Amino acid sequence: MNLKIAVLAGDGIGPEIMEQGVAVMSAVAEKFGHQVSYREALCGAHAIDEVGDPFPEETFQACKEADAVLFASVGDPKFDNDPTAKVRPEQGLLAMRKKLGLFANIRPVETFECLIHKSPLKDEIVRGADFICIRELTGGMYFGEKKEGTDEAYDTCAYTRPEVERILRVAYQYARQRRRHLTVVDKANVLASSRLWRKVAQEMMVEYPDVETDFMYVDNAAMRMIQDPRFFDVMVTENTFGDILTDEGSVITGSMGLLPSASTGESTPVFEPIHGSWPQGKGLNIANPLAQILSVAMLYEYFDLKAEGALIREAVNASLAANVRTPEIQVEGAPQYGTREVGAWIVDYIRQK
Ligand code: IPM
Ligand code: MN
Repeated sequence: MNLKIAVLAGDGIGPEIMEQGVAVMSAVAEKFGHQVSYREALCGAHAIDEVGDPFPEETFQACKEADAVLFASVGDPKFDNDPTAKVRPEQGLLAMRKKLGLFANIRPVETFECLIHKSPLKDEIVRGADFICIRELTGGMYFGEKKEGTDEAYDTCAYTRPEVERILRVAYQYARQRRRHLTVVDKANVLASSRLWRKVAQEMMVEYPDVETDFMYVDNAAMRMIQDPRFFDVMVTENTFGDILTDEGSVITGSMGLLPSASTGESTPVFEPIHGSWPQGKGLNIANPLAQILSVAMLYEYFDLKAEGALIREAVNASLAANVRTPEIQVEGAPQYGTREVGAWIVDYIRQK
């Protein structure tokens, strides 16, 4: 297969983990005889510094012309601490989502056996937890009508029926490939937009009799996720709820640095780690590249290249089992490995297979 990849490394640890993601992508391509070409493009704080725009037109073109985007992370403390900043790196991410019509954000929440002890939850509660959060990504408060005055401000949570329908279809498709259990998370006891979600879902569920559909208020879902995370198989929810719940989801598994994600929709799909740009770790060769590398696995799998994805997952698991790990997940007394060393180990594993 020929694959054109737009590479958006962004800020902070982004470029370092991206280097390893690309190396793994190339090693797998070579092994399976795929032709992959890369085109790097600016985004985030980096792009603001260079051209004054966190998602420049040229980057948008590079994304549109690619088969997939490999994205790392954006964000920089110099903007976080300045509420008056006119442009922010995060706007680049939001612009990319909107312009590429990436309405479905797929965030798997899974545990890795060897990292369960890192979870803040008890072993017996979290062990075996394995669900996917499908987060709506181009609607809700993130993109609704806003006012930002000195004495009044608001964000509107608006959804249309087609927007709700299309994300629910994605969720049902995932549920069908998994344990056939879909939880629709909303706040229908309070919010009108949530009542639309629930109404549309209730109408659609009859089309999917093979999937068990249940409904849960978001506050209850936040609680259930820590009490009984194994309850969930596929959950689907609006943008802001999904943002909050997926941070909770990533941390309960003990593997925040290991979780990849995919965003799909009308144009080029984007694959990226769930974690942020971790500016404090920048340049220190300590960032965990696994979420980026697993994002490459998701990329291959998106194009139905299952063996390619499986080989990456196998290599990642082997690196963990061999204790070739970055400092934050290394077991006591074992040697420490850097971002580059973990990446190189995985590349070697793939080449030798
Ligand atoms: C995420 C991030 C973004 C979001 C930020 C960086 C704008 O937290 O992808 O979850 O809120 O969507
Ligand atoms: Mn978030």
